[in-house]
Amino acid sequence: MSQIGMALYVGLALHLIFATTLHQGAADVLSTPVPSPPTTTPAHKGPGIPAQGHYSVKNDSGTICLKANMALQINISFHSASLNKIVQKVVNLNPNETTTSGSCDKESATLILNAGQKTELSFKFTLNTTSNKYYLNGVSILAIWSDMTDQFSDHNDSLDYLRGSLGFSYMCRSEQTLVVSQNSSLNTFLLHVQPFGLSGDTLDLHWNACWMKMTW
Ligand SMILES: *[C@@H]1O[C@H](CO)[C@@H](O)[C@H](O)[C@H]1NC(C)=O
Ligand SMILES: *[C@@H]1O[C@H](CO)[C@@H](O)[C@H](O)[C@H]1NC(C)=O
Ligand SMILES: *[C@@H]1O[C@H](CO)[C@@H](O)[C@H](O)[C@H]1NC(C)=O
Ligand SMILES: *[C@@H]1O[C@H](CO)[C@@H](O)[C@H](O)[C@H]1NC(C)=O
Ligand SMILES: *[C@@H]1O[C@H](CO)[C@@H](O)[C@H](O)[C@H]1NC(C)=O
Ligand SMILES: *[C@@H]1O[C@H](CO)[C@@H](O)[C@H](O)[C@H]1NC(C)=O
Repeated sequence: MSQIGMALYVGLALHLIFATTLHQGAADVLSTPVPSPPTTTPAHKGPGIPAQGHYSVKNDSGTICLKANMALQINISFHSASLNKIVQKVVNLNPNETTTSGSCDKESATLILNAGQKTELSFKFTLNTTSNKYYLNGVSILAIWSDMTDQFSDHNDSLDYLRGSLGFSYMCRSEQTLVVSQNSSLNTFLLHVQPFGLSGDTLDLHWNACWMKMTW
């Protein structure tokens, strides 16, 4: 951002803070977050930005074979018992309450996240050993939340998200929506994953980014 642009932005940000202050009263000033730059999408309605978790899976010899740092939000439609209709709910995954499992072999790697025994997410990555490209091809969601008439379960094994090259991690810091079906999707934030070809326990510093169009 140029200095003039920055000055305008700071001016606008201050203006927004004052406008908010006038509406909310002085008590809220300290908790008023710095507004994001005007070009980004307006604040997400729902539970706010989720916290980033650091998840990893080990292979049978105890070596880390998949790493995923990401913040996750689950968006599902289900039948509400109390309202007797389909409702939409957006819930953040709390990394502090999440346990990790999974498995890796040569051409596939799976990360399973369990939160509070009531939510299970599974991410299946596939490596094409001819092209040495990987992608997220399967997601499944199981949710047993209060007010559901039935447990929610959904999966899609025909997905094509998070494409990367072997030897690279995949990074997407901005929000990305992974649609699973018409009833469910996951919003990811601050995502940095590597499902194959890790050397040691750190993510490769070469990455494919979500805004880079990859040609196969
Ligand atoms: C686990 O990963 C390491 C490093 O990639 C590899 O040398 C080892 O053979 C793998 N073990 C199994 C059981 O796949
Ligand atoms: C949740 O999914 C619905 C349907 O796809 C969509 O209209 C809504 O904007 C989503 N909400 C969030 C917070 O992602
Ligand atoms: C997770 O735990 C840490 C350390 O106890 C705490 O600072 C943080 O607020 C917790 N995050 C959430 C989303 O509960
Ligand atoms: C793997 O990649 C090769 C070369 O790009 C392609 O021809 C082949 O169809 C791919 N295989 C699968 C299972 O997608
Ligand atoms: C699974 O994902 C594919 C690719 O995004 C989509 O075309 C298909 O409709 C999805 N399946 C279901 C059951 O929603
Ligand atoms: C979405 O949910 C509705 C009602 O719960 C169900 O009838 C429908 O089959 C679901 N669609 C998909 C693609 O799972």
